[in-house]
Amino acid sequence: MSAPDTVSVGAQGTDAPLLEVRNLVVRYGRNGPAAVDDVSFAIARGETLGLVGESGSGKTTIGRAILGLQPVSDGQILFEGREITRASVAERRALQGDLRAVFQDPFSSLNPRRVIGDALTEPLRVAGVAREERERRANEVLASVGLPAGSYDRYPRQFSGGQRQRIAIARALVTDPRLVVCDEAVSALDLSTQAQVLNLLAELRAGADLGYLFIAHDMAVVEFLAQRVVVLHRGKVMEQGATVDVIRSPQSEYTRVLMAASPVPDPDEQARRREVWQRLRAQAKAAAG
Ligand SMILES: Nc1ncnc2c1ncn2[C@@H]1O[C@H](COP(=O)(O)OP(=O)(O)OP(=O)(O)O)[C@@H](O)[C@H]1O
Ligand SMILES: [Mg+2]
Repeated sequence: MSAPDTVSVGAQGTDAPLLEVRNLVVRYGRNGPAAVDDVSFAIARGETLGLVGESGSGKTTIGRAILGLQPVSDGQILFEGREITRASVAERRALQGDLRAVFQDPFSSLNPRRVIGDALTEPLRVAGVAREERERRANEVLASVGLPAGSYDRYPRQFSGGQRQRIAIARALVTDPRLVVCDEAVSALDLSTQAQVLNLLAELRAGADLGYLFIAHDMAVVEFLAQRVVVLHRGKVMEQGATVDVIRSPQSEYTRVLMAASPVPDPDEQARRREVWQRLRAQAKAAAG
């Protein structure tokens, strides 16, 4: 957005990672077992980190801890070098433009009685942006995620599932954030819509200095979008590294099992799926150059 700020190099250091999670522990209940157990990783500016693991491995818990929606039992979370582990309500509010989220089911987080424009301008209003500029920006973002003109004045029920996920993405991006936590953001969509939304996320990232924590149980989805991946099992990191390396030569047996686990038992569906992914990858390659 702005030119590199050389003046502020020092105390916080502009070379700090975008996000750093250090030895994170999260327990549900005071003496409950650790749902997240000593997890550490970092996300660089503009990087997409995939977080994969089977159901119950702690992915959502980590995302919620980063967003301040889940209390942390131990460890630290740093955003652009600043500790936010136990940020106050006021500190979280100051962060809300920079750190955004897209969840699996956008319908549940959109107020059915309010038009889309309201959902999009709300975070800008909180940030003190003037009304005219709020409306201009909301319409700009709606167009950038491929929604038809006039979407601003329509209600959530007037959109398809794929369109609602685009609205959720628009709402995340409207504040021009630094990091977006995407928790199973495409999992509920059918395959071709999934491919469209993934391509959209990749496109939106290209122009901006935008990082993603991309949570998914599907390795193929992560492979498409993430430069690096963290593999989680029962709250612990099994391995992490460049996505290509982890996929080519997984270091842990668990990763191998995770990758081999066919998400669809039907071989025809599996073949169709493989075809879609190959097409998607070819498209991405062509777009890249
Ligand atoms: N509110 C809660 N109270 C108690 N335990 C919880 C709560 N939320 C999650 N857990 C437990 O914490 C562990 C991690 O759950 P989490 O939702 O983070 O997993 P996940 O990897 O996101 O799974 P999924 O792929 O199914 O979304 C699980 O054992 C789960 O049962
Ligand atoms: Mg989850």
